[in-house]
Amino acid sequence: MKILLLGTDGQVGWELQRSLAPLGELVVMGLDRATNPGGLSGDFTQLDALAETVRTVRPDVIVNAAAHTAVDKAESEPDFARLLNALAPAVLADEAQRLGAWLVHYSTDYVFDGSGGQPWKEDDATGPLSVYGQTKLEGEQAVKRCERHLIFRTSWVYAARGGNFAKTMLRLAKEREMLQVIDDQLGAPTGADLIADVTAHAIRQIKPDSAGGDVALAGIYNLVAAGCTSWYEYAKYVVALAERAQPAIKIVAKEIKAVPTSAFPTPAKRPHNSRLDTTKLQTTFGLTLPAWQAGVNRMLNEIDYGRNQ
Ligand SMILES: NC(=O)c1ccc[n+]([C@@H]2O[C@H](COP(=O)([O-])OP(=O)(O)OC[C@H]3O[C@@H](n4cnc5c(N)ncnc54)[C@H](OP(=O)(O)O)[C@@H]3O)[C@@H](O)[C@H]2O)c1
Repeated sequence: MKILLLGTDGQVGWELQRSLAPLGELVVMGLDRATNPGGLSGDFTQLDALAETVRTVRPDVIVNAAAHTAVDKAESEPDFARLLNALAPAVLADEAQRLGAWLVHYSTDYVFDGSGGQPWKEDDATGPLSVYGQTKLEGEQAVKRCERHLIFRTSWVYAARGGNFAKTMLRLAKEREMLQVIDDQLGAPTGADLIADVTAHAIRQIKPDSAGGDVALAGIYNLVAAGCTSWYEYAKYVVALAERAQPAIKIVAKEIKAVPTSAFPTPAKRPHNSRLDTTKLQTTFGLTLPAWQAGVNRMLNEIDYGRNQ
């Protein structure tokens, strides 16, 4: 099986390099043409060159981990966000369809309006609140132009590599006596490693290199860790865990205060309810998704808590 991985340097892309490697021949493409195989383009702003990359590589599966993920910035550069999140995935979808290949793509809970208190199911009505959410929704619609597609909607992604919420909270807890954290947005912190492992598992099950694979499995799947928390509870969990596991860390924060979203105005509106129902993913692919705390514990161990930030 030949797999073309795009967006290789992001949180999820980086983990996919590891998880996809045993599945077959893996061709990885980042933004920098100079380091890409054959000098091919993995740049989503160069649509013709991107199409040419797919035509040259002729993969059985394209995995797209590239995106415009700067949610607030997207509000002031909607055309650029649309180019990366919708127009480039449309090119990938058309090229994959022409080849009879699979296209694996990632989307977000931000396609929903965040109302209500129930976890969102895959076929619930969408209603993005932000440019990012709207362009990601357009990306989903474009990817569906390829018959053989898997779209994984995820949320609150973190990875040991790069910056993330948990690392920021640890840093602030060492600098400030009081932290204020939003407590009226609910979701599940989800590790990029979990997303990458589930992706590899799903690709193995669709058998892309055997007569085009199992098209009945194509569709949208919610992919988040089990359980639910708020940013406030998540921050408290991270700081308490760090203090317990490594007492040498000098946490100076004496209080973590819960505040509403309105305390931190941002250009992009965030959904209050980011919970995603993963029943479809778990039953279709025979998976059990671990509790969000398990992945966060691992990530904090990997970064050696406060030391390597
Ligand atoms: N992060 C989250 O909390 C979250 C939540 C829900 C869904 N998702 C979705 O999950 C997927 C993976 O997200 P992630 O967290 O891994 O994002 P990420 O770390 O921001 O990775 C995105 C990658 O895309 C690259 N990129 C930027 N401009 C590009 C261009 N012109 N051409 C090609 N690549 C370009 C980025 O490169 P640079 O770093 O050099 O800019 C980065 O390596 C995305 O589809 C995202 O929408 C993420």
